[in-house]
Order: sequence, then C-alpha cells, then structure tokens
Amino acid sequence: GLKKKVVHVLCLGLDNSGKTTIINKLKPSNAQTQDIVPTIGFSIEKFKTSSLSFTVFDMSGQGRYRNLWEHYYKEGQAIIFVIDSSDKLRMVVAKEELDTLLNHPDIKHRRIPILFFANKMDLRDAVSSVKVSQLLSLENIKDKPWHICASDALKGEGLQEGVDWLQDQIQ
Ligand code: GTP
Ligand code: MG
Repeated sequence: GLKKKVVHVLCLGLDNSGKTTIINKLKPSNAQTQDIVPTIGFSIEKFKTSSLSFTVFDMSGQGRYRNLWEHYYKEGQAIIFVIDSSDKLRMVVAKEELDTLLNHPDIKHRRIPILFFANKMDLRDAVSSVKVSQLLSLENIKDKPWHICASDALKGEGLQEGVDWLQDQIQ
C-alpha cells in the first residue's frame, strides 16, 4: 500500500492524567494492551489514521521525569496535552507545566498544533472542557492552532474527534 506520512507527536501532561491509556486506545484493538502501568521515562508508540502514521513519544508525567520532556520538543511536530479533569487540586500544576512548555525556546516561536484532552470526563468530580480551558487560560494561546476535546479514555470517547482535528492540522 501507499506509505503514509510519518508525524512525530509528543504526549505530555501530569502523571495519572491518562496519556498512556489514550494512546493505547488509538491503536487497533489487536495491538492494545490490557494492563497499563505508570510510564517510566517515556515510551515510543505508534498508531495510524486514514492518512498519517503517528509516532508518539508518550512521556512520563511524574515530577522526577518531567525534565525529560524538553529534549524531545525539537522533533515534535504536534503535541497532545492530557489533563485529568477531575484533579482540581493539580490543575494549577498542569497549568504551570503547560506555561513552561509554551515558553520553551524550542516551542515558543513554532506554529505547532496542540490537542488538549480534558480526560476522565466520566468521573463525578470532572469539570467541563470549557472550565478546563479557562483554568489553563487556553484563550491566551494565539500563535498556535489548538483544540480541546472532552474524553473518557476508558471507553474511548472523544478520542477520534481529537485525532481527526490533529490530522487536519497536519495535512
Ligand atoms: P504517567 O505515565 O504516570 O505519566 O500517567 P499517564 O498519564 O500515562 O496515565 P495512565 O494512562 O497510566 O492512566 C492513569 C490512571 O487513570 C489509570 O488507572 C487509568 O485506567 C485511569 N484513566 C485513564 N483515563 C481515564 C478516564 O478517562 N477515566 C477514568 N475514570 N480513568 C482513566
Ligand atoms: Mg503513561
């Protein structure tokens, strides 16, 4: 068949936000794993859409590994940033990490698309994706295309809408 264009994506966000669960759900069902454990360092994963072949750097969100993120910024062509919408206490930490990302010299002046997943929408404590975008001040991102989707990675809800948007940005 035709070779699809390869796109390098960075999957970022705090630990326990659901990054690995989301990436796993985007793979074909026969390639999905059943037991997802906290990522150590990072893991390279692949999934395809109708026109693209994504290579994902699924980074660990744990504090002690977050300093690894910046080493991959240069090669990232798109960012998936995952937020646990039910974790109100750490929303401010997520915002700090996002702001640090946006101000990094390897990201700051690039028109790199950012897809946000307001994940764990199934939980009773979850705030809406509109609220998440307010808490993270996403309206201040003016020099990059961005999009936020509410998602439930356990059921796989909201993921396709996000990936469709990302694919459109990269064409
Ligand atoms: P690190 O690798 O440590 O950075 O975490 P991560 O962001 O990769 O999170 P991971 O995918 O390992 O998920 C953390 C926990 O959240 C797991 O127990 C998942 O089953 C759970 N989880 C992920 N997405 C959802 C969701 O949409 N809803 C609910 N209820 N739980 C979720
Ligand atoms: Mg992980």
